Amino acid sequence: TWTRSSIAEELVASARETIGDARAICGLSGGVDSAVAAALVNRAVGDQLTCVFVDHGLLREGEAEQVEKDFVAATGVDLVVVDAQQRFLDALAGVSDPEEKRKIIGREFIRVFEQAARDIAGSADDEGHPVEFLVQGTLYPDVVESGGGSGTANIKSHHNVGGLPDDLQFTLIEPLRTLFKDEVRQVGLELGVPEEIVWRQPFPGPGLGIRIVGDVTRDRLDTLRVADRIAREELTKAGLDRDIWQCPVVLLADVRSVGVQGDGRTYGHPIVLRPVSSEDAMTADWTRVPYDVLARISTRITNEVAEVNRVVLDVTSKPPGTIEWE
Ligand code: XMP
Repeated sequence: TWTRSSIAEELVASARETIGDARAICGLSGGVDSAVAAALVNRAVGDQLTCVFVDHGLLREGEAEQVEKDFVAATGVDLVVVDAQQRFLDALAGVSDPEEKRKIIGREFIRVFEQAARDIAGSADDEGHPVEFLVQGTLYPDVVESGGGSGTANIKSHHNVGGLPDDLQFTLIEPLRTLFKDEVRQVGLELGVPEEIVWRQPFPGPGLGIRIVGDVTRDRLDTLRVADRIAREELTKAGLDRDIWQCPVVLLADVRSVGVQGDGRTYGHPIVLRPVSSEDAMTADWTRVPYDVLARISTRITNEVAEVNRVVLDVTSKPPGTIEWE
């Protein structure tokens, strides 16, 4: 039987064997999964790995800075940052269907990676080896829910497993695809990934793009980013980060409701709070966040975000609701 440390060692050895002396790139999202996958492959093949961080503009406040600062400082990985905000906005313009959004985001991700890989291969210190492998932090639940498991129906096409283009130029390497989240965290700790990253709450690859019900625009992203930051601040202040698996904050951009603020009538958008407790994201229950914490979040969001005049709480378990709204 395997001990925990032999799982990490085994995965490192297996990645080393697969990659050989080829080159690899890994997309960092700021989340646990891609960070652990990158640390693992970095341990396996060192500077044959280059990490690429795509700033797709669908990130939460401060996330880009965290990846550049925390992760690079801790692991010393070679990092390239690509600003692709306008590209993603253009590709998503007018699209409100959730599956279509996911497919577009997944496709653009791969295209940006391919370009980054070509740039890396063409850089001065290269000996002419093209980038062969694309490392992804796909976990077992992602595999199952995207229909990759034994006979499981496709629930959502997770962007890191579904919707890849047919002419993909890389061989995918997914060192975490047999693991659940808690195992990934253990492996991460063994590999020396800093605790702030290992214990970070999950955040979906398609980011805020699937937390806007309606089409994605720069203004709507700005609105959601502030509401999300406020909710995170208050939950952290209340000491709830470890009790909550994650708390999606969702902007219902296609819904408006009447309100009153000061002397005036408002006609704004609702924000949904979706705090959930879970072991592995396969099932979840809504977290009983104390009323006073919810009250502070609601008051602050409606005061500080002009477009939002209502805050609602999602009290649905999974199933039947998924964790994300799209
Ligand atoms: P759902 O909404 O399916 O989410 O209950 C389960 C977990 O997966 C995250 N999630 C994603 N992660 N790419 C990801 O990397 C995706 O496309 C994606 N969709 C959902 C979600 O945040 C939750 O933790």
